[in-house]
Amino acid sequence: MSVFSDLRAALKSSENLGYDSAWAMPRAFYADPDVLALEKKHLFGSEWICIGRAEEVPEIGDSMAFTLCDEPLVAVRGDDRKIRVFANVCRHRGAILVEGKSRGKRIVCPYHHWSYNLDGTLAGAPRMEAHGGFQKDDCKLPEYWTEEWCGFLFTSLAADPPPLGPKLEPLKALIGNYHMEEMKLRYLADEIWHTNWKSLIENFMEGYHLSPLHKTTLHPVNPTRLCSHFPAGDSYFGYNAGYSPDLPRSQKGHPDLSDAEADNCVMFAVPPGLISGCGGDYSSFICVQPETVDRVRAKLGLIFYGEGWSEEAVDKAVTLFNDTMSEDKTVLATLMKGINAKSYVPGPLAPADFEGNVLDFYRYVSRRLSPVLETEG
Ligand code: FES
Ligand SMILES: [Fe+2]
Repeated sequence: MSVFSDLRAALKSSENLGYDSAWAMPRAFYADPDVLALEKKHLFGSEWICIGRAEEVPEIGDSMAFTLCDEPLVAVRGDDRKIRVFANVCRHRGAILVEGKSRGKRIVCPYHHWSYNLDGTLAGAPRMEAHGGFQKDDCKLPEYWTEEWCGFLFTSLAADPPPLGPKLEPLKALIGNYHMEEMKLRYLADEIWHTNWKSLIENFMEGYHLSPLHKTTLHPVNPTRLCSHFPAGDSYFGYNAGYSPDLPRSQKGHPDLSDAEADNCVMFAVPPGLISGCGGDYSSFICVQPETVDRVRAKLGLIFYGEGWSEEAVDKAVTLFNDTMSEDKTVLATLMKGINAKSYVPGPLAPADFEGNVLDFYRYVSRRLSPVLETEG
């Protein structure tokens, strides 16, 4: 069997097998550059991709440069306060317009100072009047679809993607009372993880490893025994990670939360690029983008509900998060080595409450990629 037919068969069985009989994926799923090329084209190049938090561009004229599928892009808050995403490439001779985060009434190209309004239209181009073919109106920056959801900012490179919000309604019903859109960003980090992007997603989305791997960090907070799976939708999946009853909680979160919700962290994914742990007092998220089969760009953040957070309490949450993530990062680098070993054989997955989201993720990938593996693989 070819590598792809092997993978096709494994993906197909993920759709047919139950949570009590699922198996891990073959090596090609994680290590084949041709599979990654399909993922970049059909997942990251066409789905809604989370690029961070809307509050990262809080004021009119704020902009944030980023890259998606090797395309340089920039998110800009316009005069109408709406956030738009444009190509971050000058319409003159292609210079990159914005680096990092910046603020201004206009976007000015550093090379020859062509300037753009906050809606992407060309505002000025010095000494160009004499050019017979130059039309200002022809030089608008290409614009991409954007959507805000629970304070997260999404964009899509697709020509006309169906809106994201309606696809996530059932998930919103589970996390609405936490009011993530009101939470404030207090920690942000850009990192490179040496693993496959799907391994990073799977790791964040299974509670099976919480007690064993994070014995002294996360186990006292969210032990494996308190994890429970909830049904996945087409564009999301997740599980509940109960907080240990012995845990002193520093903040209660939004008054809308029931006691049961306040005692629970909703771990959810909006694949392919967003994973989040939604807690009442504070929440974590990672925006994930693959670079190569074993190199992932990860933008990690913590957002906090309410004003009563001391620096010390924030620092404590950040330290717990970083210690936990560093344990994950280390094991995920070894996982990549193991998957590449000749002796690697996919094993059985733990029951739904513990590794059900791994199967949910396989099924998501299968729904999106099985048809193209048939034709392009
Ligand atoms: S490349 Fe931007 S003004 Fe020339
Ligand atoms: Fe972990």
